[in-house]
Amino acid sequence: MGHADRPTIIAGNWKMYKTIGETVAYIHQFIPLVKDVAPLVYLAVPFTAIRAASDAAKGTNIVIGAQDVNEHAEGAFTGEISCGMLKEAGAQFVIVGHSERRQIYHESDAMVNKKLRAVYASGLQPILCVGETLQMREAGVTEFVLQTQVTHSLDGFSSGQVARTIIAYEPVWAIGTNKHATPEIAEKAHRFIREVISETWDAETAARVVIQYGGSVKPENAPKLLLEPDIDGLLVGGASLSAVTFSQIIKG
Ligand code: 13P
Repeated sequence: MGHADRPTIIAGNWKMYKTIGETVAYIHQFIPLVKDVAPLVYLAVPFTAIRAASDAAKGTNIVIGAQDVNEHAEGAFTGEISCGMLKEAGAQFVIVGHSERRQIYHESDAMVNKKLRAVYASGLQPILCVGETLQMREAGVTEFVLQTQVTHSLDGFSSGQVARTIIAYEPVWAIGTNKHATPEIAEKAHRFIREVISETWDAETAARVVIQYGGSVKPENAPKLLLEPDIDGLLVGGASLSAVTFSQIIKG
């Protein structure tokens, strides 16, 4: 099984940008731009815009999701949102363990693991983010860090659960810096992640798992990244905020 046997999935992560009104205007502009594209198109929008986004995207090829979730079904967790709430609002996938959650809000692999357990149980599709900081890369521990994040975050899950997880390799030094990883550096990390999945689960699961690259993806660098055999998609931050720019990335 190679690149061509896996779906290409290109996701936008809006982070804390766009009101409901801005979201609806974006989606109306975006629909005709991407209606005939080959890749699957995902958009992770703010919690408050999920309902409006999924209504506006209804009947189109645009899949709406969320950027984080709480591990509990309900309870006294002020400010938190459950998988059930996301699903009812129209989300079909959710990002878990983004480096901004890990760094700013101190989310550990153990917490990511709990969140993933809730996500699998709910039927939402997870995008699990992993990636090393510049300091880790310079210290030569990138592979150790990726192995730890992947195996600890996915600890205890079945081959079937792992296979329908999207893994996003997002080197922290490439996020929002305009310094994307070269296709060679990204491919090396993707291949390593696939090897870890193969060793920890099995070769069939490793062959099925979609691995996205994220970090300063732009229309200029996206095509070369997607040519690599183990880069199956992209997770796009800043450049997904413009419907035109994001559609250029998706069209390649
Ligand atoms: P940028 O594309 O803005 O570098 O962000 C990447 C990212 O964090 C996507 O989740």
